[in-house]
Amino acid sequence: MSDTAASLRHIAVDALTLDQAKREHDALAAAIAHHRALYYQKDAPEISDADYDALERRLNGIEARFPELAREDSPTRTVGAAPAGGFRKVRHAVPMLSLDNAFTAEDVDGFIEQIVRFLNLKSADGLEFVAEPKIDGASLSLRYEDGALVQAATRGDGAEGEDVTANVRTIADIPHRLTGPAPRVLDVRGEVYMTRAEFFALNARQAEAGEKVFANPRNAAAGSLRQLDAKITAKRPLCFFAYTWGELSEPLAETQWDSLQRLRAMGFKVPGQSTLCRSKDELLAYYARIGAERPDLPFDIDGVVYKVNRLDLQERLGFRTRTPRWATAHKFPAEKAQTLLKAITIQVGRTGALTPVAELEPITVGGVVVSRATLHNADEIARKDIRVGDTVVVQRAGDVIPQIVEVVQDRRPADSQPYAFPTVCPCKLATPAHREPGEAVTRCTGELACPYQAVERLRHFTSRNAFDIEGLGIERIQLFYDQDRIKAPADIFRLESREAQRLDKLVNMTGFGKKSVENLFKAIDARRIIAFDRFIFALGIRQVGEATAKLLARAYRTVGHWRERMLAASAERAAKPDETKPELVGEAYAELCAIEQIGMSVADDIVEFFAEPHNLAALDDLLSVLTEVQEFVPPRVTSSPVLGKTVVFTGTLETMGRSEAKAKAEALGAKVAGSVSAKTDYLIVGADAGSKAAKARELGVATLTEQEWLDLIGQGAEA
Ligand code: IVH
Repeated sequence: MSDTAASLRHIAVDALTLDQAKREHDALAAAIAHHRALYYQKDAPEISDADYDALERRLNGIEARFPELAREDSPTRTVGAAPAGGFRKVRHAVPMLSLDNAFTAEDVDGFIEQIVRFLNLKSADGLEFVAEPKIDGASLSLRYEDGALVQAATRGDGAEGEDVTANVRTIADIPHRLTGPAPRVLDVRGEVYMTRAEFFALNARQAEAGEKVFANPRNAAAGSLRQLDAKITAKRPLCFFAYTWGELSEPLAETQWDSLQRLRAMGFKVPGQSTLCRSKDELLAYYARIGAERPDLPFDIDGVVYKVNRLDLQERLGFRTRTPRWATAHKFPAEKAQTLLKAITIQVGRTGALTPVAELEPITVGGVVVSRATLHNADEIARKDIRVGDTVVVQRAGDVIPQIVEVVQDRRPADSQPYAFPTVCPCKLATPAHREPGEAVTRCTGELACPYQAVERLRHFTSRNAFDIEGLGIERIQLFYDQDRIKAPADIFRLESREAQRLDKLVNMTGFGKKSVENLFKAIDARRIIAFDRFIFALGIRQVGEATAKLLARAYRTVGHWRERMLAASAERAAKPDETKPELVGEAYAELCAIEQIGMSVADDIVEFFAEPHNLAALDDLLSVLTEVQEFVPPRVTSSPVLGKTVVFTGTLETMGRSEAKAKAEALGAKVAGSVSAKTDYLIVGADAGSKAAKARELGVATLTEQEWLDLIGQGAEA
């Protein structure tokens, strides 16, 4: 039963059971990570290179036989990537955001229509776009001061990346000094990539030397960029295309197009395929043309990008939480392949959702080996009538998880049976699984008693965008959970005080060095002070992702205030569970629904979370072991005539659409409300205003015309 990882090593890989393989895999992954850190970060290896290679070989052998054990973070996949923490962190002065996706011509229509509406234009006539190839590499920010490259950073989580300056200096496409006139501060952004030919050649060299081979050019580029030793990066044939910018001391030009020409004049490569387009039809023609050229391009692209050409319009359009309104990525259809569906297994998520997973005969799709694909839920399996033993069509689009598109009917075995979705959780408690009428998901009813759910919640809690506790990955969480050391988030922060005397015991556990335990304690300690939005996100409330967590943090500012208002909202909702108008449920509940992008469905999930005594107890327990949940500090609007004011817009505005007006007011630190109350500071009245103006007069709220409002916020002259 309890054979140790070391004793397992004497069993041939072919003779291992899945369970043994899993345990040994976990131990090997931890050991390899440990030795890599000693070798790369501390320059102090404890074992010989040959012994280290033996660990990697064994791990590779196990993953070759059990591909399902090879997860994203497996050492066999983090090829070349530096162990976490190897680079200095860099905060981006302007965040590095992502792009919204369009897949169909209708999506492109939607993109353009939204721009027209936002800018309050009569039609799309006269709007120009720059269409560019969407390079499939790793994005990079290059900071130049007085014409000299001073810093290069990866995107990271968008707010903070890694300092890869030394590596970037080895890339020939990236000028160390700009040519020609340039702004004093210039943060150029673009994509590091590897041509397909160089990628194949690199893989051939790697294979020859017995080194890891990369799954695709993008992984090869990203891995090479994040080498801790710049000498290795220098040997990797990396290229760079510039396509946008972050901080600038002065504008480059008035349009995207002219900016690209300026970047070219300063010494950057800009994709030659970029084109100016004047209509939707021209965009679609560009998409079709580049799609046809795609196989012949020397580098991988996964779509094209459309950007509004005029920079003043880009500025007015601004950003959503993660993506600009002025650009979209029009993606190419996914690549497909056929393979055998060997089995359907069930994964249990942190909210108890049972997700069926297809276990596939490994196959290469678009350059990546796929051995598993999500099947989403019972309906999806029934709709496509997917059965074990079927040959299925698998597709992969960009970074998207592989999907099963359809079953190849004429290859179905004669004795095949429809799949019966389980009625109990696969965990050892075999708790009944339940599906609410009208819902697609089947959930385990075990809540925290279900070990799968508990572990998944802990994993979410410690994940990068939540508490971000380094050294507490899924293997360790599982281990600590199984040993009853960590059952709930607060236990993480009690680990040291509980285990300090028993450190030796902890150290003796597979894969843990004394140093690594001490580092873990340090990493945990560093998180006793946490940003409010991360704290909210970490709780894992249904439908509360990072963006919603930020909205909540911004609206409630402190955890104490939030807790109090959520309890109030929760009580209000419990008294009126069927009410469909937020304002009739109660004040606290209506306040929650008044937050932009929070509807009743999200609000209900939040109040349900607070209605559950276990959740509240776990939250309070967590608060008791933390030092501080930092108050949310809104983005730097230090002085603005409308800072902290509550404004309401009514009627039709002339110079801008309603969403633009709202976004602008919010950017200046004002709160935009939907209805007039005694708390309203200004009502801005457009044409054909309704009853709100009368209400404002009644309450003595100041009313402004659109022009007066623009004058107040200092935009009167240009408007
Ligand atoms: S513009 C505000 N242009 O695609 C976002 N991105 O899916 C500005 N990418 O993170 C990005 N080619 O890494 C832009 N011509 C192009 C691009 C491009 C590739 C990448 C970039 C970005 C990702 C978003």
